[in-house]
Amino acid sequence: MTETKRQKVTLGTLYDKMRRGEPITMITCYDYPMAHLVEQAGVDIVLVGDSLGMTILGYDSTLPVTQDVMMPHVQAVRRGTPNAWLIGDMPYMTYQPSVETAIRCAGRFMAEAACDAVKLEGGIEMADRVAGIVKSGIPCMGHLGLTPQSVAALGGYKVQGRGAAQAKKIVDDARALEDAGCFAILLEMVPDRVCELITKRASIPIISLGSGPHAHGQLLIFHDMFGLYPKFKPKMAKVFGDAGKVIGEGLKQYVAEVTSKQFPQPENWFGIKDDEYAELVKMVG
Ligand code: KIV
Repeated sequence: MTETKRQKVTLGTLYDKMRRGEPITMITCYDYPMAHLVEQAGVDIVLVGDSLGMTILGYDSTLPVTQDVMMPHVQAVRRGTPNAWLIGDMPYMTYQPSVETAIRCAGRFMAEAACDAVKLEGGIEMADRVAGIVKSGIPCMGHLGLTPQSVAALGGYKVQGRGAAQAKKIVDDARALEDAGCFAILLEMVPDRVCELITKRASIPIISLGSGPHAHGQLLIFHDMFGLYPKFKPKMAKVFGDAGKVIGEGLKQYVAEVTSKQFPQPENWFGIKDDEYAELVKMVG
């Protein structure tokens, strides 16, 4: 396999892309082999999302995910992608209680997993957490629209900001997050024109997840992109390759070949020299 070496993505890289009108690419990732592929593909931003609670661990929501569960995944992804801008996603109740808990959680992502930044969910009500994190020297991304940690309060996984009043709240939240020091904001499942309006008013990169083409960049969830999440496929996700199908077919073939004794073949096992084997037989009688 030919390996591509690339330059480390920095905040400067992301802001230059925004200014040039060059779309920023962002993806979620949860383990070393996938991170290696993401690195080779040249993705700009990698988010180790607490969505791993659903995609990797099979929970129905992101709420059971703790920071201790997140850390080995973030560390593995950092090993796989040394050059992407790596964001650790702050899990449920690691920043909501206070500014201090938020700073401590963010600090662990930086110190123990060599992250470049963290992400948290929420608008005006989280602005002081963002400000505290940023004042501690840690870049912070905001997340508005469908914020999965508040799924119960939002009434399910559905589009946010379809009504003018709700959309206005998202616009105000985006401004508050930018004022608090966020380096970028993710808009998840917000109508395209609301995303466009926020993007035009922003001086930081706005990234869209299902919020249309007008943002400065796009994010997709890895497992949705490659047919690897069995429970559902969100409308916003495009399947770029059906790895789930390829792996599923490979597994059926494996079962068939072991059952019919077609596998393994000599190239799949290791031998011992005749004289060593004769000696062994003598030794064991
Ligand atoms: O956890 C995650 O992957 C996220 C995305 C849904 C944006 O926060």
